Amino acid sequence: MSVIVLLGAPGAGKGTQAPAIARRLGIPILASGELLRAAVAAGSPLGRQADRYMSRGQLVPDDTIVRVFLDRLEAADATDGAVLDGFPRTRVQAEALDTALAEAGRHVDRAGYIDVPIEDLVQRMANRRICTANGHVYNLVSNPPAYDTVCDLDGSMLVQRPDDAEATARARMAQQIPPLLDVVDHYRSRGILTTVDGRLPIDDVTDALLEAVADVGAA
Ligand code: AP5
Repeated sequence: MSVIVLLGAPGAGKGTQAPAIARRLGIPILASGELLRAAVAAGSPLGRQADRYMSRGQLVPDDTIVRVFLDRLEAADATDGAVLDGFPRTRVQAEALDTALAEAGRHVDRAGYIDVPIEDLVQRMANRRICTANGHVYNLVSNPPAYDTVCDLDGSMLVQRPDDAEATARARMAQQIPPLLDVVDHYRSRGILTTVDGRLPIDDVTDALLEAVADVGAA
């Protein structure tokens, strides 16, 4: 049973790094942004509500995301644990997660914080491209696909996320970094935080995170 939290500002590299950790520990990735984007695409009541916040770069209200995300964490595929990408993002969410896990006799094993300066983040978001079929993540500068508009892995079209437009990207930074730092403190005070320099090449960040979770799951 392993619960790993990946923390980082928008564009820090959580989605890029989550697959390697999930593969190593044999657990799924639960990504709050993906969950919300799927709801938006489906036009569900949750999606319509979430879209109002996401399109402005704001966090979806705690009561909504906590309910939806903790329900997802209870699903059968997460009984052995999960890599949490994008949740928790506020202290309220972190405490709700602790409570829900404690009720099930579980706890967060490790939190990995990918630390990147703001100006690098805005650049990254401007150059990020996402595949429409499976959400594979590219960067036209640091992690380019062979062809700018086609996913190397599944051949689907690559697009820019609507919330990666510069004004929305800056709003996301302004709104979301202060509560993120609160969550970082939450895990630091519990002695389970590892901070990784997210300016390093992608593979080096992966190595540092894998080292941080190396003993997780060992009996
Ligand atoms: P979400 O989808 O979670 O977005 P985010 O946290 O803003 O994170 P991103 O997906 O933008 O970035 P990332 O850290 O995954 O970086 P990536 O790997 O793509 O959330 C979207 C929205 O949903 C939020 O704004 C909010 O409204 C709402 N929401 C979600 N969760 C919520 C919650 N818990 N509570 C309330 N609201 C919530 O990498 C970025 C780019 O950099 C890529 O192009 C990549 O190739 C490149 N890159 C990655 N690593 C490196 C590296 N080491 N060097 C150079 N380039 C790199």
